[in-house]
Amino acid sequence: MQSTPPPKTFHVRSFGCQMNVYDGERMAELLIADGMAQADERANAELIVLNTCHIRERAVDRVYSDIGRIGKEFARKDGSAPMIAVAGCVAQAEGDEIMARAPTVGVVVGPQAYHRLPAMVAAAAAGRRGTDTDMPEIAKFAALPRRRRSGPTAFLTVQEGCDKFCTYCVVPYTRGAEISRPFKDLVDEAQLLVEAGAREITLLGQNVNAWTGQDEASRPVGLEGLAKSLAKLPELKRIRYTTSHPTDMTDALIAAHAEIPKLMPFLHLPVQSGSDRVLKAMNRSHTVHSYLALLDRFRVTCPDIAISGDFIVGFPGETEAEFEETLTLIDAVGYAQAFSFKYSPRPGTPAATMDGQIDPAVMDDRLQRLQAAVNRGQMAFNLASVGRTCEVLVERSGKLPGQWLGKSPWLQSVHFFGDAAIGEIVSVELVEAGANSMAGRLVA
Ligand code: SAH
Ligand code: SF4
Ligand code: F3S
Repeated sequence: MQSTPPPKTFHVRSFGCQMNVYDGERMAELLIADGMAQADERANAELIVLNTCHIRERAVDRVYSDIGRIGKEFARKDGSAPMIAVAGCVAQAEGDEIMARAPTVGVVVGPQAYHRLPAMVAAAAAGRRGTDTDMPEIAKFAALPRRRRSGPTAFLTVQEGCDKFCTYCVVPYTRGAEISRPFKDLVDEAQLLVEAGAREITLLGQNVNAWTGQDEASRPVGLEGLAKSLAKLPELKRIRYTTSHPTDMTDALIAAHAEIPKLMPFLHLPVQSGSDRVLKAMNRSHTVHSYLALLDRFRVTCPDIAISGDFIVGFPGETEAEFEETLTLIDAVGYAQAFSFKYSPRPGTPAATMDGQIDPAVMDDRLQRLQAAVNRGQMAFNLASVGRTCEVLVERSGKLPGQWLGKSPWLQSVHFFGDAAIGEIVSVELVEAGANSMAGRLVA
């Protein structure tokens, strides 16, 4: 690679989960602290960071096509093109292959090493392309700049990695072993986010409810203890957390929903399948019964909790009858929302080489039927909220003059008109239900 002047402007695009969104924000902060500026649009950036996701097949294809497109479309008159840095989980899993296949990529940096991004960009500008996919324990966070920017809602990664090894999933390989960030670091970061304008913080982790630490009084606590401490920040109005694993759920966290008013009545608890045989083959370590029993315990403590989930259709060997068990589960739970995916074989995972890989046409059909069931549940949940008056955190202005968009406590998107401002919590009566949003009326 030839040496070029170091880039002065950048653009970060994040794919995948919310933890990647968080990482993308931290990379932007790092580059700004290093003297670079955010480009007004991607086409004008001298450095483009692709913060990638490896969870499903198409995600990887998209990275390669994006790399190709950047080279073609963003080429300058003098023939030069922006420098590309590939970060995130594809970088971790396929770093060497990317370096070999894509000569326009100057930097490949994994999710645990991105604190080194500015140094690697400088080296690439000097003609030295580089890959860093090391997984030093938590060194990254200590090396990141202080947080200074936030919208009304902010993400805060509290736990990283995964030890669960579901047989279909790449996360344990791309993100490494489960680690919890220290309590004090998290309270400090939350404080800075709140000072920068955050009114809601979503605590993030691949298994966020596995977070453990020691509180101010050196007592061992779980996520409920962290939430309790964060709730003491006066300007912080709402706390959420995602994604929880059924096996890591504790009575203390369930109880916290009754004890901490700022802890929102929303639970994202992926189940993946409604068949015990498939769950076992997935190595999920819960059964349909234990999952439903857990939801029952939640509902006793927090009767209005909204439940969200993830589903995979077409796991190897899934029969029509087993798939129908998933539909039955969806109807039984009444999800407020859910994400559903066609099974995607991931290289290196046990499920990729299992017998009984499902025909794509069958997967398409199952996905459609599953999504119809989820949509029915979501619409029923939204219809049941009509007439309720609730608090809405205003996140942005709407398309129409005087219109605002925000979220209900149950994470529904709510649009309404009237006198409000971004970052305010306002009282709104939910007057009309749509499939994906609610119309509201501002209550004086
Ligand atoms: N840690 C979380 C979520 C991890 S990834 C959990 O355990 O639930 C987010 C979702 O992607 C998963 O819940 C799963 O539904 C889906 N997913 C993961 N690997 C997949 C694969 N190989 N094919 C299709 N969907 C997958
Ligand atoms: Fe993947 Fe399972 Fe870990 Fe979730 S719990 S990240 S699905 S291995
Ligand atoms: Fe994707 Fe990595 Fe998140 S694979 S879902 S970006 S942890």
